[in-house]
Amino acid sequence: MHDPMAMIDQDQMMQVLVNLEKNAVEAMPDGGTLSLLLKDSPDEIGIAVSDTGHGISPQNIEKIFTPFFTTKELGKGTGLGLPLVYGIIKMHKGKITVDSNTEPSRGATGTRFRITLPRN
Ligand SMILES: Nc1ncnc2c1ncn2[C@@H]1O[C@H](COP(=O)(O)OP(=O)(O)OP(=O)(O)O)[C@@H](O)[C@H]1O
Ligand SMILES: [Mg+2]
Repeated sequence: MHDPMAMIDQDQMMQVLVNLEKNAVEAMPDGGTLSLLLKDSPDEIGIAVSDTGHGISPQNIEKIFTPFFTTKELGKGTGLGLPLVYGIIKMHKGKITVDSNTEPSRGATGTRFRITLPRN
């Protein structure tokens, strides 16, 4: 990475990573792989957080950034992690996308969140 610099709020970006990593770990109760990938280009940096967990179904994937949407049992999740992540990325004028697979017949299951942040 020749230029890892971007203007970010360090505490907020830490919140983003903690929330994505917590979700990844919670999606892999029997273990798996959590990977973080950083990428740079002249005008933006990319961060990808991937897991080999159970994945997010197509009907749920459109709801995950909605406040209080959770599939976790009562008392476990508030459903506020991803809305917070989304808000922070928007405040940084960035983008966040998600790809997921729940179907073992279609390949390895898991989820990947991709964030791009402009360098400003
Ligand atoms: N990496 C992931 N793998 C599988 N499902 C995920 C993943 N990340 C998010 N989800 C799904 O999206 C839902 C919403 O996530 P979000 O982080 O907003 O809330 P939560 O994890 O349920 O609760 P909280 O973050 O408050 O503990 C989760 O309940 C889960 O169904
Ligand atoms: Mg969460």
